[in-house]
Amino acid sequence: MIKAFLFDLDGVIVETAGFHYQAWRKMANDLGFDISEEFNETLKGVSRTESLERILKHGNITLGEAQKAQLASDKNNYYLQLVSQMTHKDILEGVEEFFAQIKQTDIKIGLGSVSKNAKMILDKVGLLDAFDVIIDGTKIEKGKPDPEVFSKGASELHLLASECIVFEDAVAGVEAGKRAGMKVIGIGKPDVLNEADWVIDGFKGMALETLISKLQ
Ligand code: BG6
Ligand code: MG
Repeated sequence: MIKAFLFDLDGVIVETAGFHYQAWRKMANDLGFDISEEFNETLKGVSRTESLERILKHGNITLGEAQKAQLASDKNNYYLQLVSQMTHKDILEGVEEFFAQIKQTDIKIGLGSVSKNAKMILDKVGLLDAFDVIIDGTKIEKGKPDPEVFSKGASELHLLASECIVFEDAVAGVEAGKRAGMKVIGIGKPDVLNEADWVIDGFKGMALETLISKLQ
């Protein structure tokens, strides 16, 4: 019995994944190397500090804690500039229609994002009130692929993992959902999100009934 849908934010509800990539790429370029889109795929769903560690390792750069804190803060400030113009129109196609279908049922809507900017972004695009529970980067200790963000979502809704379905665009996020014991619908490419139970390319035209029947 499906009782909740837990949505990732970046790349599932809004297309901020490209802004994260742009901001990290600028930092890497300033440090003298580049990061490819393929490498960026390994950063999706990963926390800010862990992303920074992975990028520095990729560029063979060793820095002290203070320098790393500065870089993470600079990246976030640049990211905030990029997202500052976001509005309601930046919600990914089909998301609101899909939410409207869910609202006609008893199924709850939850957010499971490791981003510390999640609430601010939801507020900007006018979706803050759409969620029954919001688990973001300020509420968790471990980022994806750790299952904490989704397990916490289920427990705050007083539900079992088996009653929750996760929507994820990141390899690390799909792993987090599976490790939480939930079924996972990937948003993206089946060859990238090969651990997901089912992969779709987005919510445009998605009928809730079709989706539920696929999960039986
Ligand atoms: C995830 C993104 O949702 O949030 C990652 O997929 C990002 O790319 C992470 O690093 C942390 O986000 P923030 O906004 O706290 O830096
Ligand atoms: Mg994502």
